[in-house]
Amino acid sequence: MAEFIRDLKRTHSCGELTSKDAGQEVVLFGWVHNRRDHGGAVFIDLRDRAGLTQVVFEADAGEEMHALSQELRYEYCVGVRGKVVSRGGNVNPRLVTGEIEVHADKLTIFNRSETPPFLIEDKIDTAEEKRLHYRYLDLRRAPLQATLMKRSKLNLVTRTTLNRLGFLELETPYMVKYTPGGARNFLVPSRLNPGKFYALAESPQLFKQLFMVAGFDRYFQIVKCFRDEDLRLDRQPEFTQIDVEMSFVTQDDVFSVVEELVTALWKEVLGVEIPRPFPRMPFEQSMRSYGNDKPDLRFEMQHVDLTALVVEHKGANVPMWSSLLEEEWTVERAPGPELLPAETRTLAYAMKAGQIVKALKVPASANFSRTETDKLEEIAKGMGAKGLARAKVSETGDWTQSPLAKSITPEARAAINAACGAKAGDLLLFQFGKEAMVHTVLANLRLHLGKKLGLIPEHGPRDPQQPGSWNFLWVVDPPLFEYDEENHRWAAAHHAFTRPHDESIQYLETDPGKVLCYRYDLVLNGFEIGGGSIRLHDPQVQQKVFAAMGISSEEAEQKFGFLLQALRFGAPPHGGIALGMDRLAMLLSGAESLRDVIPFPKTQKGTDLMTNAPGDVEPAQLKELNVASTFKPPA
Ligand code: AMO
Repeated sequence: MAEFIRDLKRTHSCGELTSKDAGQEVVLFGWVHNRRDHGGAVFIDLRDRAGLTQVVFEADAGEEMHALSQELRYEYCVGVRGKVVSRGGNVNPRLVTGEIEVHADKLTIFNRSETPPFLIEDKIDTAEEKRLHYRYLDLRRAPLQATLMKRSKLNLVTRTTLNRLGFLELETPYMVKYTPGGARNFLVPSRLNPGKFYALAESPQLFKQLFMVAGFDRYFQIVKCFRDEDLRLDRQPEFTQIDVEMSFVTQDDVFSVVEELVTALWKEVLGVEIPRPFPRMPFEQSMRSYGNDKPDLRFEMQHVDLTALVVEHKGANVPMWSSLLEEEWTVERAPGPELLPAETRTLAYAMKAGQIVKALKVPASANFSRTETDKLEEIAKGMGAKGLARAKVSETGDWTQSPLAKSITPEARAAINAACGAKAGDLLLFQFGKEAMVHTVLANLRLHLGKKLGLIPEHGPRDPQQPGSWNFLWVVDPPLFEYDEENHRWAAAHHAFTRPHDESIQYLETDPGKVLCYRYDLVLNGFEIGGGSIRLHDPQVQQKVFAAMGISSEEAEQKFGFLLQALRFGAPPHGGIALGMDRLAMLLSGAESLRDVIPFPKTQKGTDLMTNAPGDVEPAQLKELNVASTFKPPA
């Protein structure tokens, strides 16, 4: 007798039969998506990853089969043979296969299913914990299946595009030596080398540079990276990068490859043409206008930097602003060497180091109530602000509902209104103090307001062809160093192997804060989707970079020995980038969290609710690894 799978092979998926196939005999495999028993006939929707097909088991199609069909329940895994029949006037327009149904003449139940803990529907309101616990069932749902199929396509297009551009796909180790700096690493004890640890690679950075030294110009890899960081919606401890490195290139060459890849992904996966070249914005402008280096350019609402204005108005008679200023005496001498005594001293004001004053304008159309503005203050406080000074601009340009209104000079008020382009009814929000805090608060408030006021076109993946859906941006030319307040020294803002601009090299010894470098981030709709740099391959400049950070040659050798050594053997000029594959998948599919685009993700606490990782291990295993746990469970 003909048996399913052995003799009766699948002829079609559940998502492809149409009226053109009427009359054909077909074999389908899949899961019972739902069932209706109409007395005489049992109807099921049979589901596989391609879609749904209605299958009918008529009473007169055989007693045994009909009896078996009455046993069918949700998520039973079955095989069906039957004939494609047109549904006539009964078409279901929501299904690709809605014109037909399959009249079964043979059925087998491969496996019965326990009652599933939630329905395998597109939209369910089951708690995420439960869905993660039964991830294999959650993954049966059409939206997740569509996302993972997109992900597969992302991989395919990445490989074909980079292959076409002459890149080699080469692998690098996951178990590597721990090197300081960067993200916190996961450590793996070595059984064969008691007391020693591997680190799980946070990225293939050093190895891809070594590929360049070895002459493997144009490398790429779709690679897992591991970082023991605090997790967020767009951060997973184990994530995937599209990692690229090239020799003999400028920044423009790297951009050109990445733009070719990214536009191919959008074209192949979404059918959307993204115009090239992508716009670029200097890091400094991004910070000034948006308060971070990943601005969402789908809406305006730029920050207004009032620092210079407040200095010019000597604090504007606002005590909180005056306290940010310091006095600065300048000594002027009359020109000419012989007129020595003609010296005058003038008092000027300057902002104390690292302090700024900024404003954000909420248009009158928002029509915020007092309660709503109070809520904004709460949000600001949640992000580390002491408060959120605000002012409502009246017809005459006066300020109301504002703690600043009484004290501010009319001149400063008029100048601020002008700088903000404020009109009657507009609301000004002020933030001042430490630059990092002001930026964090206002950058987040800007996003909050953008969403609340409906300024961000949400259509994105839902209507990907809409102009304004996809705002790609290169953020370029950031400073090489940032000041480490705690240790009173300059530290590499990204890493110490980034090439400074040639014009900046003069400041390496005198004013490290002024050194700009060839580091770049690719931003899409407010998410950093990639980052990279042109590397520093010149040992002399490298020495100066270490010196600027107060790192001696011995210390540098100790920390980065093998890379420094390799760079001394005729390393080619090179540069590269890594794109966050999970973030690309998240944005392409309109998901809100990386958990929706990673097949088996971790929770915010880094746990896997399905397998219960991380888990306990036997004392004997720890002993073998020469590891002892100091953890004491809370009493
Ligand atoms: P970077 O650290 O900027 O660069 O990482 C590159 C891109 O990877 C993504 N990404 C993450 N995605 C999910 N979860 C995380 N925890 C996570 N961390 C980073 C981001 C980011 O832009 N070696 C350099 C690349 C280079 O210089 O070539 C690097 O790893 O989208």
